Amino acid sequence: MREGSPHAPVRLTDYQPPAYLLDTVDLHFQLDPGRTRVRSQLALRPNPAAEEAGAPLVLHGRELELLRLELDGEALTRATYSVDAERLIIPEVPDRPFTLTVETATRPEANTALEGLYTSGGKLCTQCEPEGFRRITYFPDRPDVLACYTVTLEAEREEYPVLLANGNRVAAGEGEEGRHWVRWEDPFPKPSYLFALVAGDLTCCTDRFTTASGREVDLHLYTEAHNADRADHALTSLKQAMRWDEETYGREYDLDLYQIVAVDDFNMGAMENKGLNLFNSQFVLARPDTATDADYANIQAVVGHEYFHNWTGNRITCRDWFQLSLKEGLTVFREQQFSAAMGSEAVARIDSVDRLRGAQFPEDAGPTAHPVRPSEYVEINNFYTPTVYEKGAEVVRMLHNALGPEGFRAGCDRYFERFDGRAVTVEDFITALEEANDRDLRQFRRWYTQAGTPQLEVRSSFDAEAGTFDLCVRQHTPATPDQPHKEPVPIPLAMGLVGADGADLPLQLEGESEAVHGTRVLLLHYEEERFRFTGLTEEPIPSLLRGFSAPVEVDYPYRDAELAHLAGHDGDLFNRWEAGQRLARTHLLAQAEAVGSGGEAVLPDPLRAAFTRLLEAPPADAALAARALMLPDEGQLAEYMETIDPDALHAAREAARTGLARELRDGWWALRDRFRDTGPYRFEPEAVGQRALANTALAYLMAEPDEAARAACMEQFRQADNMTDQLAALRALAAADVPERPEALDAFYERWQDDPLVVDKWLAIQAASPLPGGVERVQALMDHPAFSLTNPNKVRAVIGAFAMRNPAQFHRPDGAGYRLLADVVLELDGRNPQIAARLVKPLTRWRRFVPEREAAMHAELERLRERAGSPDVGEMVDRALGDEGEA
Ligand code: BES
Ligand code: ZN
Repeated sequence: MREGSPHAPVRLTDYQPPAYLLDTVDLHFQLDPGRTRVRSQLALRPNPAAEEAGAPLVLHGRELELLRLELDGEALTRATYSVDAERLIIPEVPDRPFTLTVETATRPEANTALEGLYTSGGKLCTQCEPEGFRRITYFPDRPDVLACYTVTLEAEREEYPVLLANGNRVAAGEGEEGRHWVRWEDPFPKPSYLFALVAGDLTCCTDRFTTASGREVDLHLYTEAHNADRADHALTSLKQAMRWDEETYGREYDLDLYQIVAVDDFNMGAMENKGLNLFNSQFVLARPDTATDADYANIQAVVGHEYFHNWTGNRITCRDWFQLSLKEGLTVFREQQFSAAMGSEAVARIDSVDRLRGAQFPEDAGPTAHPVRPSEYVEINNFYTPTVYEKGAEVVRMLHNALGPEGFRAGCDRYFERFDGRAVTVEDFITALEEANDRDLRQFRRWYTQAGTPQLEVRSSFDAEAGTFDLCVRQHTPATPDQPHKEPVPIPLAMGLVGADGADLPLQLEGESEAVHGTRVLLLHYEEERFRFTGLTEEPIPSLLRGFSAPVEVDYPYRDAELAHLAGHDGDLFNRWEAGQRLARTHLLAQAEAVGSGGEAVLPDPLRAAFTRLLEAPPADAALAARALMLPDEGQLAEYMETIDPDALHAAREAARTGLARELRDGWWALRDRFRDTGPYRFEPEAVGQRALANTALAYLMAEPDEAARAACMEQFRQADNMTDQLAALRALAAADVPERPEALDAFYERWQDDPLVVDKWLAIQAASPLPGGVERVQALMDHPAFSLTNPNKVRAVIGAFAMRNPAQFHRPDGAGYRLLADVVLELDGRNPQIAARLVKPLTRWRRFVPEREAAMHAELERLRERAGSPDVGEMVDRALGDEGEA
């Protein structure tokens, strides 16, 4: 429990500069998994910019054993400081530079929260963002206190031959009794959250990169010896990212060494510690037979993401954690640009919009909605959200598009020049963009402070005689918790007008002397705006929000034929896909409605027609074709239902899926045959697209499996030389009630039982299978020897997949799915509150569901509120319950 009120919120408006600055930190670790001793020497001085002089020195600390405390070499007596569960306070310190020596002990093996110093598979490692460093030593653990670190690691040589920390390795030597030590120096000032160390028996896979200016950088990727053949793809991705950042942003890497370590027990995906990235092994290790195309793509993206943080996050960091999107939103945007450059732009855009809609739109519409820059939090770990990340990236994308690539680059150059080595705010970033472009982005700032997804209502009318087409656009942002009234935000609406032949019509607004060809951007500032296009000789179909030019929801009364036309011809590939999805969504929702009122779901005619056309003439880009042939998932469809009825939704989607499978069987076979053989595995866009397309066909064939489909699926399962194809076959089998199902699942486990990352896939596929008995299946998986509640990947594979990717089973009418989830949250609450709190998310949308589910979810939230002790879970539950949660 925290000091004072147990779950007291932190507020942006309470920000105060640190009272003391830190010049250097000298850390000495006597590493031992049972009990590690840490000696820290801090060179401190009063901050001339502090609000008041002579303030007490406040250091954060958690679960530490204090062994020694000295000021300028003199031991501090018990009366001269105070210490509680959260902080160490020294009321009187000198009004000049001074040195504080702190010696503490911590227990890595007993650390189940996986924050601070902990053990993973015989290694010692750290995770300090956002507030983990305070579990290592007493420290001003806030991102605006930057210092240069010297770190000496001392450990038993046998167990821990490799000792790593940030920066450059400057010295090493032997100690007593089989111990040895290594010293590291990081020349760049950094906040404590970027500190890292690793100790263990690791193999180093090496590579090299020559920077644009000709400096040589050593690239070291550390894994356990048996994984050394899985490092190539990450190292290749790293070099691609380094080159891309030089070419696109003119940014070079700044140290002579870049280290990455793979860790099996990791709360997150990866962490950008200066010169020593730590990665969840899932996002770094890959071999064709163990990792899927999706894994390869994720690794490329995550390696890029953490690398890009070196400039957006590390060299320039956040003043406080409210500014988190300053580094995360900007870095996700940079990562998205990089992923687009490494493959197809349209596919990359579809995938990022899918993530935004799948997670961020629901968040923005529910009780945990918050602005990209929140103004208040209880537990900062709860704010690493889709809003801060994905919506934050969309906001940066809008800035990029508004300024153009050169203008954005000029703004970033200014940002880097002006703020290098400092801890700054979102405001500082926007100001740099404004100054470099001589632009006023005042209204744009609202995107950072106002929560909720703006709804754009667009209506049109065509006057054939006058040759005019009018668009009326209204924006409205729904109320969110604590923000009942919303202001209009600036919305760049990229659009085109599509003619009967499928080509873009010239765009000439009334009063303009010339027409624009192709796409143009209407910049909306007000609640309602009207546009009149002139010189039209036919009624156009508007293609709205091309490339998803703003994170908004567009409402336009498209007719089926118009959507079909756009799906076939829109010059904007994103909107071509979007039109097909919209068509599918409209009809699936109508079917769900019918089921809800006692009817039976069927395959709607317009969907059959659209899929028939797609199968006859699939888009040239196979990856795009695969996405076009995918029905929107139940989670996304649910967002459009007045009241969510998971059964009706599932029935409607299943009817369409099995209908398409049955009625277009020959088309699926032909598609699969045409794209199946991609030769020896290569991670290249074309081959990835072809595998996706062939496996989409297989999934449809297995939706209504006849003997031939089952045989083909089993054959692919047995013969595949890569995990993408093998897993696609297994997934299809696991989702079908066929005799081959148990056989394939057993064979897969038998083959891969010693490979934890592959076993995670096996667990997730079963937990996400829509077959009846999901709750029991998940319970059985949790009893399986392969499962472990202490490994976050295992928890995500089983519980995460079940609660987030298996709506049909999770929302079981008797509430058993909810109960199971809440039980796991309570189990984890005391051990790893960060992971526990993340699992609460699916329950937070309880108010949106049909009454009996609403009640059942509510009951579990009440149970959590009663029994959960961590501020992490407590905050999520309080927000989920809303006003009613305030006792
Ligand atoms: N800085 C984060 C890692 C992090 C997140 C640390 C939350 C502590 C708490 C890192 O840069 C990151 O954003 N990682 C993402 C993956 C990324 C590709 C979006 C993650 O871990 O999910
Ligand atoms: Zn990040």
